[in-house]
Amino acid sequence: MTTILFAAGDRNWPAWEGPLREALAEAGIEANLTQRCDPAEADALIYAPKGDTPKDFTPFINCRLVQSLWAGVEQIVTIPTLTQPLCRMVDPGLTQGMVEYVAGHVLRAHLGLDAIMNAQDGTWAPVIPPLASQRRVAMLGLGALGAACGQALAALGFNVLGWSRSEKSLDAITCYHGKAGLRAVLEQANIVVTLLPATAATENLLNAETLALLPRGASIINPGRGTLIDDDALLAALDTGQIAQATLDVFRTEPLPPAHPYWAHPRVTVTPHIAADTRPVTAARVVAENLRRMLANEPLLNRVDRDAGY
Ligand code: NDP
Ligand code: OXD
Repeated sequence: MTTILFAAGDRNWPAWEGPLREALAEAGIEANLTQRCDPAEADALIYAPKGDTPKDFTPFINCRLVQSLWAGVEQIVTIPTLTQPLCRMVDPGLTQGMVEYVAGHVLRAHLGLDAIMNAQDGTWAPVIPPLASQRRVAMLGLGALGAACGQALAALGFNVLGWSRSEKSLDAITCYHGKAGLRAVLEQANIVVTLLPATAATENLLNAETLALLPRGASIINPGRGTLIDDDALLAALDTGQIAQATLDVFRTEPLPPAHPYWAHPRVTVTPHIAADTRPVTAARVVAENLRRMLANEPLLNRVDRDAGY
């Protein structure tokens, strides 16, 4: 019998136990799914980095899969004792949530909804908004989430430019890569969405120099990670008007401290890391498929590249 240790915290167990048992049964996997076992008995771990979860993987000597419930693995990939195969989460429910968050905030920036809602003073002053085809949206990151969000925005009519580490060809997105590609994308973008992982290579990607490449009055939407942005540079760019508005879901310190200038800034919207959550019903099927692959010695889905850090 395969032993699967749910090492994603007691708090998460009630929401996950039912969907996981169901998905394991659907996949024909006979397993002992448990919250506690002798570490040497665990064949696989279902893992989340926060809270009462293992931080030393040395005792898991027979573990052949650590399946993260999170898409971003920067807190996991850096654990030195985690030498077992590590997979990140790509979940259709999470992806749909991110598409909705990004589409909502891009449309809000595009239609100027903040200004409309702040001007309900009885003045009848029609201003016709441009069409989506007149806006260029930059998707920084074209992975599971960036590609899906970019294609959803393109379906709404936006002109979508995308940027990734490797060269890509994606339907409905004009793709760029590398340093020159970043410059070309930023120089054109009216709205920038960052869906990159937190790695050494992406730290402070949006800084004084790169923010200055954008057309004046661009908007930033960051559901990726807080480390992607140099906060002082963004605040300065907001104050000069170079950046018109920033919607930020992720921060270097979470929860964002109450005294942080982002909270009080009139042109910053803070959301509390809610852009997209892993959804147990859809994600449990992904976990079960990876466990099936592990047992069949087939290549695992969404394997983390430890050198790249994502
Ligand atoms: P993926 O790993 O599928 O995609 C990452 C993308 O970033 C890829 O296109 C990759 O390029 C690109 N990338 C990585 N490093 C660089 C670099 N140095 N230069 C240029 N491009 C780079 O991740 P997901 O799309 O699934 O998720 C993206 C991030 O979203 C997660 O890492 C996480 O931080 C965040 N997230 C936030 C959530 C929230 O609620 N706020 C929820 C879930 C995720 P390439 O394709 O060439 O490899
Ligand atoms: C994730 C997240 O990485 O919620 O899954 O940010």
